[in-house]
Amino acid sequence: MAAAIVALLVLSSSMKSSFATTTTTTTKCSNTNYIRSCCSSTRYPNLCYSSLSPYASTVGTNRTKLAIVALKVSLHATQNTSALVKKLSNTNGLLINETNAIKDCVYEVGDAICELKQSIEEMKVLRGSDFEFKLSSVETWVSAALTDEDTCMEGMGGYGNGKLEKSIRNSVTNTAMLTSNALAIVDGLAQNYKSKSKAHSPSTRS
Ligand SMILES: *[C@@H]1O[C@H](CO)[C@@H](O)[C@H](O)[C@H]1NC(C)=O
Ligand SMILES: *[C@@H]1O[C@H](CO)[C@@H](O)[C@H](O)[C@H]1NC(C)=O
Ligand SMILES: *[C@@H]1O[C@H](CO)[C@@H](O)[C@H](O)[C@H]1NC(C)=O
Repeated sequence: MAAAIVALLVLSSSMKSSFATTTTTTTKCSNTNYIRSCCSSTRYPNLCYSSLSPYASTVGTNRTKLAIVALKVSLHATQNTSALVKKLSNTNGLLINETNAIKDCVYEVGDAICELKQSIEEMKVLRGSDFEFKLSSVETWVSAALTDEDTCMEGMGGYGNGKLEKSIRNSVTNTAMLTSNALAIVDGLAQNYKSKSKAHSPSTRS
């Protein structure tokens, strides 16, 4: 135990000195590096980086802030998809079953919007003793949003590859990729928290 504490102290002091050297380089550069490294654990790292790097200066090196930004980007894309699918559900000349599939999509995507909004609100009050509980609610909601988006895609499955079907699929696919990335970043936050609380020595906070 004593050896572990010594190891942690050595580790935290060496981390401090490496921070001291990195903060002397330009902040913009180190912030985008932070985003690149967090994105490496997502399923679509290039999309993750291109969608989140514009917010580098807001995020800094704060993982909670990065998760909130990722959820907002996902919400924005989902709202965009919702508008598109709603508009296309009124297209004339569709088969009845196809119209129904598109209307189901409108419904699923609407649910995803609610779940993502709820997640963002919860992320903003993520502190205190029920941190872990709140974070696991967020994980549940974001994965429900992803399931809704997948359900929409599956429902659109058998309707050929016309222009309308393609534009719905492209939009939902892009949205689902962004949501998957946001979920990975939230999961990373949870894992980070768990590993920190496992090593719950106060010396780690010095
Ligand atoms: C990270 O951001 C969150 C949300 O804005 C904030 O509550 C928290 O204090 C920040 N953490 C650090 C270490 O600055
Ligand atoms: C919103 O949808 C339009 C049309 O489908 C697309 O061109 C645009 O890139 C989308 N924007 C976002 C943020 O997803
Ligand atoms: C939709 O309905 C048409 C006409 O009733 C039918 O031929 C087609 O197989 C249906 N498509 C799917 C994917 O269920």
